[in-house]
Amino acid sequence: CGIVAYVGHREACPLVIKGLKRLEYRGYDSAGVALMNGHGLEVYKKKGKVVALEQELAGKELHSTIGMGHTRWATHGEPNDVNAHPHYSFHRKLAIIHNGIIENYAAIKQALIKKGHTFASETDTEVLGQFIEDIWENNGGTLEEAVRLALQEVVGAYAIVIMNEADPTQLIAARKGSPLVIGVGENEFFLASDATPIVEYTKDVIYLNDYEVAVIKNGVLTVVTLDNATTTPYVHKIELELEAIEKGGFDHFMLKEIFEQPRSIADSMRGRVRVNEGTLQLGGLRDYLDKLAKSKRIVIVGCGTSWHAGLVAEYIFEELARIPVEVEYASEFRYRNPIIKEGDIVIAISQSGETADTLAAIELAKSKGATIFGVCNVVGSSIARATHAGAYTHAGPEIGVASTKAFTAQVTVLTLIALAAAKRKGTISDSLFRQLLAELESIPAKVERVLQAADKIKEIAYIFTYARNFIYLGRGLNFPVALEGALKLKEISYIHAEGYPAAEMKHGPIALIDEDMPVVVIATKDSSYEKVVSNIQEVKARKGRVIAITTEGDTQLPGIVDFTIEIPKVHEILMPLVSVVPLQLLAYDIAVMRGRNVDQPRNLAKSVTVE
Ligand code: G6P
Repeated sequence: CGIVAYVGHREACPLVIKGLKRLEYRGYDSAGVALMNGHGLEVYKKKGKVVALEQELAGKELHSTIGMGHTRWATHGEPNDVNAHPHYSFHRKLAIIHNGIIENYAAIKQALIKKGHTFASETDTEVLGQFIEDIWENNGGTLEEAVRLALQEVVGAYAIVIMNEADPTQLIAARKGSPLVIGVGENEFFLASDATPIVEYTKDVIYLNDYEVAVIKNGVLTVVTLDNATTTPYVHKIELELEAIEKGGFDHFMLKEIFEQPRSIADSMRGRVRVNEGTLQLGGLRDYLDKLAKSKRIVIVGCGTSWHAGLVAEYIFEELARIPVEVEYASEFRYRNPIIKEGDIVIAISQSGETADTLAAIELAKSKGATIFGVCNVVGSSIARATHAGAYTHAGPEIGVASTKAFTAQVTVLTLIALAAAKRKGTISDSLFRQLLAELESIPAKVERVLQAADKIKEIAYIFTYARNFIYLGRGLNFPVALEGALKLKEISYIHAEGYPAAEMKHGPIALIDEDMPVVVIATKDSSYEKVVSNIQEVKARKGRVIAITTEGDTQLPGIVDFTIEIPKVHEILMPLVSVVPLQLLAYDIAVMRGRNVDQPRNLAKSVTVE
């Protein structure tokens, strides 16, 4: 879910709505705002995207210099008007918006029902709001105190903002586990799930920490811990520019982000790779390189596309640095009492830096004595702050829900880390090290060449627009790329797609192949090329329709397969950075042709801050 709030001298409603649109990537099944519109605390909410709420509000005279809004990704209760946030408390003294999950809400709800409370919605959030109000009414203290007391009883994750009828200048916010950023302007304050709704007004932000409560009252901000110790918040300057979060002439953020990859890959290496000198520097890992080189094992954790980047990294680390690597879904790792020893390195990969499962996996590994590195895109994010060291991917904001440029930046940075480890360990020759640095530098231009094939990919997409299933095959480093290609397609087009290691196909998926089954095979000229060609023959023998990603100049495959998409020759280790790009475009084109909302596919959210 996405949260925005404002208090100051501007009209809050349009500001909050605009902010919600920037946060829609976090969830978009319903939206709502609370304002002080001259008649006390008023809440407006609507099922659907933020635009639906905006239409609902159009024509209403809404004046308020304080307000808050929410765009929801449903956890408790279906997406409808009633379950949308904000929620009023029982006596309507306060309204609350919330991102996260209150795990013990059912017990609290029962206790309140015994006291005669009734509930309008099925949400855990309404329970929290009523609980806070109940404490406030019965304790006789301040609302801030009631918030602290209530949150001490709460199990789960939250970022909340509360407005109250009695004090039209006051916003109270708190966080544990879910992100919350405070923008500090001149006599005005902004609250949001990330900095994107804030940047156009101020670059000064405070990242609220877990177990902290922020109180803004009469233009003054104070931050206290849940047990009421005052803390001095640190004001960061953010570098995010407005253009980075706008579409800039592209039809969709996803397309813009695909086309940004030559630049974002270059940005992820900027200042780190010096090809002429043959050196590589990773400032954020400088003090940990020895530890990495000496580590007996690396465990990589992540979710979704970030997990795929981890799978690519497994091949690279093992090949170059000869360190055994395990790649785990963060959600599985955290719940299975994993064996972690001191001296193990855990690398957490996360675009947003906020994924709840990944964050929890880090905390668990930390408690078992591991050293944790982060590979995050969002500067200052929870995961970046929870790790011992790390390297940012510097891909710039990624807004399309389906991850593209973040993936290639992750793979680039992980390659740099593997190279640095190999160099320190002495498992890579100087000539290969220098060669790979030079090859890395040539990747942006090669990705650019793939993007020039966009029209050809569109033609292929057109032919397969109405396919019902897709299989993606690859071997070696291209196996995770096959998984990623299939994920892209299913996420945004809703076509069922599966990625498989090409050789594994004969142990199951081959049964699915007939003349209606498109099979995308990454068949680049590398050490497994001949094997992949054999796998393609197996598909063709069963009348499957093959779209092959081939290396420029391959004359054999065009005679065998139905369609080819050529990509430039790339060193095998770096192949995924280039071979994934045509798959991103193919998924994008098919989804657009099917009329899908590619930037906001149904049921998904970009940043999953609930487990
Ligand atoms: C969600 C997004 C995916 C993303 C995954 C992990 O499922 O829709 O695109 O790969 O979360 O997110 P993270 O921010 O941790 O990389």
